[in-house]
Amino acid sequence: MASRTVNELRSQRWFAAADMRAFAHRQRAQQMGLRREEFMGKPVIAILNTWSDMSPCHAHLRDRAEAVKRAVWAAGGYPVELPALSLGEVMVKPTTMLYRNLLSIEVEELLRSHPIDGAVLLGGCDKTAPGLLMGALSMDIPAIFCPAGPMLNGRWKGQVLGAGTHTRKYWDDLRSGKISQEDWIDLESRMTRSHGTCNTMGTASTMTSIIDAMGLTLPGASSIPAADSGHIRMASACGEQIVEMVWADRKPSRILTRASFLNGARVYMALGGSTNAAIHLIALARRADIELSLDDLDTIAREVPVLANIRPSGDRLMEDFYYAGGLPALLKRLEPVLDVEAGNVLGGTLSDTLAFAECYDDDMIRPMDRPVTEGAALAVLKGNLAPTGAVLKPSAASPHLSRHTGRAVVFENYPDLVARIDDPALEITPDSVLVLKNAGPKGAPGMPEWGALPIPKKLLAKGVRDMLRISDARMSGTHYGTCVLHVSPESAVGGPLALVRDGDEIILDVEARRLDVLVDDAELERRRAAWTPPEPKTRRGYTGLYQDHVTQADQGCDFAFLEGGPAQGEPDIF
Ligand code: FES
Repeated sequence: MASRTVNELRSQRWFAAADMRAFAHRQRAQQMGLRREEFMGKPVIAILNTWSDMSPCHAHLRDRAEAVKRAVWAAGGYPVELPALSLGEVMVKPTTMLYRNLLSIEVEELLRSHPIDGAVLLGGCDKTAPGLLMGALSMDIPAIFCPAGPMLNGRWKGQVLGAGTHTRKYWDDLRSGKISQEDWIDLESRMTRSHGTCNTMGTASTMTSIIDAMGLTLPGASSIPAADSGHIRMASACGEQIVEMVWADRKPSRILTRASFLNGARVYMALGGSTNAAIHLIALARRADIELSLDDLDTIAREVPVLANIRPSGDRLMEDFYYAGGLPALLKRLEPVLDVEAGNVLGGTLSDTLAFAECYDDDMIRPMDRPVTEGAALAVLKGNLAPTGAVLKPSAASPHLSRHTGRAVVFENYPDLVARIDDPALEITPDSVLVLKNAGPKGAPGMPEWGALPIPKKLLAKGVRDMLRISDARMSGTHYGTCVLHVSPESAVGGPLALVRDGDEIILDVEARRLDVLVDDAELERRRAAWTPPEPKTRRGYTGLYQDHVTQADQGCDFAFLEGGPAQGEPDIF
């Protein structure tokens, strides 16, 4: 049922007035070949498309935009496709994280500066999902997220392969001589065999599933494989739904509550999701002016076990998850701990989704009393090495390292790591703690996924496959290992990580949620007095702006000037 009239549509400011400017707007729409009656008085729907030739995960999004358009027309809307920054995770350097905030700014300003009444957000590859959504939350007009969908399972020599997770495994196998150079080249063409996002529980599937659980996609949309015809129909249904949302003025601020975010966090933990989601969820909550902290995430991680048997925490992939019932089936498992009154883009509640949810594979989506791993999806650590927090993913870490004391082997930055990690003269044992500095939001800049530091070749040859590693960097959700990440404050701003030296004893205690360096306060103060901050990589352009304004990982790595606060307001039209 419509609750708004045509005259209340935002786009009418551009098209309906009896002045020269409105004449020009109508004239330019007709320049595109549209007849006046095809667009006048209709909700204008932006299809924000992050397709590009450099983003293979989004290779199908031009087709999906067409599916959205046809449904928007059929529902009585006027669809317009607007290209937005395409952040192909693998190709963009130094890291897509540097550009997540830029995408969010672009989305907000595209929506603000054009005559748009509602938006369909097309994306999925890692930073694209949070970037699109952060901008949409800040603009706060009706918006629906249309996830790119996971790619099909990889296959090689009879084995099922997961993107990212197996890349790291076979890289270590190649370096230790377990597979040949020919095998390695063969793997290039077998691991990612269709369009769509990574089929492991990387950041893409973590974030699209969280957004789904928060009610901002069509229910269950995030699990549909990109190559399935159902994915095209889902895109079309998004087009129909957004027109209804515009008439109902169902914007994000009318859907999202703290309960929505906590539901999203519970799904994050049950998925064994990427540690990156801790940053993105907090950034999204801050855009929506909703309280959410690392401590909230830690509390939920202690309550919700890993139930989705997906790599790297489990041993299966997103395609199997879909056949098992997908996200609705996982939500059904979690029903006792969810707030089922949380809203969604349909104008209903989570309980409506649960009414049709069913699980078809108990190994794939486990019951609460039979989790995939002993360890939780997240542990938030604090201590004198991480005063405002650091994170670790116990479900993808080695249990024998969960309480560990070892001596630091310190790398001052990533080039230093690359130069020395395989040096035969490096003094290191399996008990050592690898420490990487200057890889955080400001220091790198952009906090690249350098946190799964490589195991030194000489230890790999002895069969060592995991070590305690600590950094202010991030780690791909597809990777595994005992990696303490997001150490805050980061070393480049003088966090205690900056003061660690070779040979210092470091103690990790996951159960106690502690991370400490066993150096007394007086000595740390002496080192601090001698410390000088690293020179910024550049003062120029967007990277310079980023370094000046990015917040720390525990606060979401957003720009402080984009968080919450009053809406920016509508543009003048003269
Ligand atoms: Fe795009 Fe993994 S590279 S989702």
